[in-house]
Amino acid sequence: MLPVTPTATSAPRAGDVLELTVGEAVHGGWCVSRQDDTGQAVFVRHALPGERVRATVTQTTARFARADATEILQASADRVVPPCRFARPGGCGGCDWQHASVLAQRRLKAAVIRQQLRRIAGLDREVVVAAIAGDDGGLRWRTVVSFAVDQDGTAGLRRHRSHEVVAIDRCLIAHELVTAADVTGLRWPGATSVEVAVTPQTGERGVLITGRDVRPSSLPAISADSVQIATRPGVRTPVRGRSFVTRRAVGRDWRVSHGGFWQVHPGAADTLAHAVLAELDPRPGAAALDLYCGAGLFAGVLAEAVGPGGHVLAVEQDPAAVRDARHNLRDWPWARVHRGDVAHVLRRTGEGGASIGVLDPPRTGVAGPVIDVLCDRNGSLRRLAYVSCDPATLARDLRLLLAGGWELAGLLGYDAFPMTHHVECLATLVRS
Ligand SMILES: C[S@@+](CC[C@H](N)C(=O)[O-])C[C@H]1O[C@@H](n2cnc3c(N)ncnc32)[C@H](O)[C@@H]1O
Repeated sequence: MLPVTPTATSAPRAGDVLELTVGEAVHGGWCVSRQDDTGQAVFVRHALPGERVRATVTQTTARFARADATEILQASADRVVPPCRFARPGGCGGCDWQHASVLAQRRLKAAVIRQQLRRIAGLDREVVVAAIAGDDGGLRWRTVVSFAVDQDGTAGLRRHRSHEVVAIDRCLIAHELVTAADVTGLRWPGATSVEVAVTPQTGERGVLITGRDVRPSSLPAISADSVQIATRPGVRTPVRGRSFVTRRAVGRDWRVSHGGFWQVHPGAADTLAHAVLAELDPRPGAAALDLYCGAGLFAGVLAEAVGPGGHVLAVEQDPAAVRDARHNLRDWPWARVHRGDVAHVLRRTGEGGASIGVLDPPRTGVAGPVIDVLCDRNGSLRRLAYVSCDPATLARDLRLLLAGGWELAGLLGYDAFPMTHHVECLATLVRS
């Protein structure tokens, strides 16, 4: 047992041990707590709401401290033994909630979404976070894992809020096809990261190695269908096989270039595609938008639904993703992919007469100019599906969309990233 550092009324310092009652979960995988004497906020990892813990301070700022719960004095009924031995204070930073049951993790994520909506968007809504179909107790789901490589060429995963690489033998949330590649058992001279992407339905495995000094001749023999090296952004050297992995969703194949975006949970692309269709209810002949379209998943299901009498305008800025989307959408010539920043493209093309649209931006959310176009009172859009992987930026954008004449018609949460604090949301908006 660590001695509790006497804090009196002084601000804590890194290394101090505090005895704390743990409060609500907040965005980022923390629980917030207040120091008994000073009332200063302490963000605690590896703790759960309602617990009494001893926590070791890891960082301080003028306004708050960060700490790791290193001893649990009174445990929550939701607490479990983390399945992974690296999910602990000072260990791997990839998982935030391994010490909570999977059901409790979903309740925590729902509470965080609700809290963000209340604080940032002024909305008070009951939220449910549902399991993704086929989830295996929150483990073995990650079909894409980016391993960090240290200066010695050893691959591992990063410590929390650090560039330091933690050596691991296996990651329990990685899909078993990723684990079978044994990236952490091989040496990667000159590399900074090794990303493995797999397709569970076919067993295909692709590997992208990043690093300015990586030479094909010094790479280990990895079991993969395709291998590429990225020496600089946009510069790729093929080593073996194709430059993409073929993913499978909604009964079709989707080409996704190495390093390109695809939902990482094996059931997430199907779940979200069906949910977006159910929310937008596209009719034959309708015009639709797919903003931030990636490899074109939503544009494809919308194009199939609206048929040749309709039209889909998809927008994506990453050149490789645009090539993938054009390839993936080739069966639906009424779906067109515009390359560029969403704000610039929308300013140029307008909404193209679309009555329905899906937007699936990166974690940073939608930029102001895009919101301005979506809120144009003379615009044609009537129904929007906003897919978000960050409840804070979703809440910020919802506040702007609601102020601009949209109404929130539905909000669903999906546990697409079990054991981590990440969560996927689908907000449906209608023009009021
Ligand atoms: C979360 S992914 C969504 C991809 C796709 N909807 C899917 O489900 O597979 C976000 C995509 O937005 C693209 N992107 C990011 N910022 C962008 C911008 N300003 N304009 C256009 N595309 C952008 C990224 O390249 C990425 O492909």
